[in-house]
Amino acid sequence: MNHPPVVAVVGATGAVGVEFLRCLDERNFPMSDLRLYASSRSAGKQMTFRGRVLTVRELNEQSFKGVDLALFSAGGSISKKYGPIAVQSGTVVVDNSSAFRMNPEVPLIVPEINPDQIHRHKGLIANPNCSTIIAIVPLWPLHKINRIIRLVVSTYQAASGAGAAAMQELLDATKAALEGRDYPPTVLPHPYAFNVFSHNAAIDPQTGYNEEEMKMVKETHKIFNDPEIRVSATCVRVPVLRAHCEALNVEFMSPADSTWVRDILSHAPGVKVVDQREKNYFPMPRDASGQGDILVGRIRNDLSDPSGRSIAMFVAGDQLLKGAALNAVQIAELLVAEN
Ligand code: A2P
Repeated sequence: MNHPPVVAVVGATGAVGVEFLRCLDERNFPMSDLRLYASSRSAGKQMTFRGRVLTVRELNEQSFKGVDLALFSAGGSISKKYGPIAVQSGTVVVDNSSAFRMNPEVPLIVPEINPDQIHRHKGLIANPNCSTIIAIVPLWPLHKINRIIRLVVSTYQAASGAGAAAMQELLDATKAALEGRDYPPTVLPHPYAFNVFSHNAAIDPQTGYNEEEMKMVKETHKIFNDPEIRVSATCVRVPVLRAHCEALNVEFMSPADSTWVRDILSHAPGVKVVDQREKNYFPMPRDASGQGDILVGRIRNDLSDPSGRSIAMFVAGDQLLKGAALNAVQIAELLVAEN
């Protein structure tokens, strides 16, 4: 890899792509050039980075010549097609899609948890699913001390996880509802304004779990390197623009209490405890939006477990930042540090 690297962003015009640029800028990521790619629809569009106006180009098979590092967030099919082409050109790819996450050859990294996995890469590194990252950043420091044996999670997922078009659909549908107009959904499967519905990922007819839920199960196993943890997830879309919330119910191997959890999490990297019982002030998507930390609160002993080994808590994290762009840029920082 050149020092500093030539960087490409694939999907630069998307909800995550825009945040890639913001994170690269804010974190002062070292680079000698930046190239922006999207579909033919966006070719010629101009975006500003560090005071320079850059022109978005249409992605094609030649796009990776001379590129050292590419951040992908243009959907799984683009990653599947262009990821290997980029690697062939000598580019290291950090991919935000689910295309390669469960490939045993591909490291799946959350820098606060398994940064050492960076050394295993063969050109491709996967960025985990956003709901998985938001749950496991605060769980890892607890798991390291007192092994988690079971996790039951319910998500409250924002529009941003379905991309810029879904965010716009939420805005337009809400406006239409307030004006008393009909708004047939085109991006998500159900009316989004003032509604809550099961995550739009495909459902396995045998188990009844959807793909988003199974990502949380499998990715947690891979990142924690612990396939024994029993995980059950219910993933739901709520009418929030960005930042996901999740209710976590965690069963540990040994007794655990809320004071211990609060104490560990108040020193944990990437985590901020927001747990003001007296003010009824807990993690909210509005507070999580725009910040890199995962907010954790409602930390309490689970009254339903008489063995005293279970904790309930509520988290909120910016899906576009730590759930996507920020985590990917942190992975890129590991790569630069490695070289
Ligand atoms: P475009 O804006 O030109 O459609 P989001 O996750 O917000 O929906 O964004 C998806 C990103 O992936 C956008 O930047 C989008 O570009 C890009 N994209 C979609 N299809 C392609 C394609 N065929 N080639 C390259 N980029 C694509």
